[in-house]
Amino acid sequence: MTIAETDTWTPDSWRSRHAAQQPTWPDPETLAAVGQQLATADPLVYAGETRQLLKSLAQVQRGNAFLLQAGDCAESFDDFSADRIRNKLQVILQMALVLTYSGGVPVVKVGRIAGQFAKPRSAATETINGLELPVFRGHIVSSELADARSRRPDATRLWRAYQQSLSTLGVIRSLTKGGFSDLSQAHAWNQEFVGSSPEGTAYDQMATEIDRAMRFMRACGIDLDRVATLREVDLWTSHEALLLDYEAPLTRLDQSTQKHYATSAAMVWIGERTRGLDDAHIEYARGIANPVGLKLSANVSSDDVITYCRTLNPERVPGKLTLVARLGADNVVAELPRLLNAATASGVPVIWSCDPMHGNTFTSESGRKTRKFDDVVAEVKGFFEACRANNVWPGGIHVELTGDNVTECIGGIDDLSESQLDHAYETICDPRLNARQSLDLAFRVGNLLQA
Ligand code: PEP
Ligand code: CO
Repeated sequence: MTIAETDTWTPDSWRSRHAAQQPTWPDPETLAAVGQQLATADPLVYAGETRQLLKSLAQVQRGNAFLLQAGDCAESFDDFSADRIRNKLQVILQMALVLTYSGGVPVVKVGRIAGQFAKPRSAATETINGLELPVFRGHIVSSELADARSRRPDATRLWRAYQQSLSTLGVIRSLTKGGFSDLSQAHAWNQEFVGSSPEGTAYDQMATEIDRAMRFMRACGIDLDRVATLREVDLWTSHEALLLDYEAPLTRLDQSTQKHYATSAAMVWIGERTRGLDDAHIEYARGIANPVGLKLSANVSSDDVITYCRTLNPERVPGKLTLVARLGADNVVAELPRLLNAATASGVPVIWSCDPMHGNTFTSESGRKTRKFDDVVAEVKGFFEACRANNVWPGGIHVELTGDNVTECIGGIDDLSESQLDHAYETICDPRLNARQSLDLAFRVGNLLQA
């Protein structure tokens, strides 16, 4: 594939390529009907909104802002509620406040939310209690229950995912624009189970200092009610563009720019398992005008990094391409410089972000997938060191978290042990940081930004 092929791109040109990680839909007629439904449905995110995110990301690329991309590994159809969305938003707002206050940079907030339903898996089937079943690929494909009927891919779920994303966006919009995200509410974002921890206390102190600064400004005659950025925030949406039968019908031509936009989210990314250079996902991603992310493990060659940069950001637009390194705590210092230098050699402006989760997953003795908080912190630290040693702006972090009090990652402030994982292990896919661990991480990243 070459850049010159851009003119042959259409929202469906990926169909002639190999598409990894797609379910085998048993009923093509239902799939076609749902595709039609999606093709005529309203965009979830409009092109103009996506361009605003691109502008903010350009600031990240230039080293003037930091990207916080965070949310579920896999959103669930079952535990969907406004309360859970609020909890997630709360912890993201808290983290952003800590990063802004201690790191001194604006934070661009992007959720893994309102569309993060599809999961790549290492095998197409799995055997549970002697029964071979299609693997669970997220609620957009099937239920996770371990019987043949539940695991049967059901294309009507694509429509359900769209509907849930629409509802989620509604909740996000009212919470981010309707007073809840007002900086004067910063104390209220601290949930009870977080407030009692050292991080929660440190956070409260910070919120008190901010209150005092705001009172001071008011006393000086500054009308803070007129400063929209203190009262409202933007939480942009993102997900892995994995199920191309969902993405393609939601990809639309924007009349004002004559460019195609994915309208399923403001930003989408291509995962580690679907980034084959000649494959369908890269073909799809290269043609959309949205900001695009690309996950990279240590398996990627330096030459391929250069090709990815030139393919996914041919017009060299700042903020357009985010390379998300997910190397693992043990590999980051050794491997990241090679990747950073390859991207620099490509001449293409990119954002470098660190996913300290997916290179640090292991299975506990009790059979739970988990991650050590210390490994997460170590990878972020290595990322900052490697970026700084190579004159690259450490542009952001990409983390899996929840606002709820779960026990999925071990260590952290409560020193959660392997034997405690069962207490509240709720994820339907990868283990997430809970709200306390997330806030703890934010303080550490804030310190790294300051250094
Ligand atoms: C993910 O982000 O949930 C994921 C599957 O990541 P990766 O593609 O990096 O493995
Ligand atoms: Co994950």
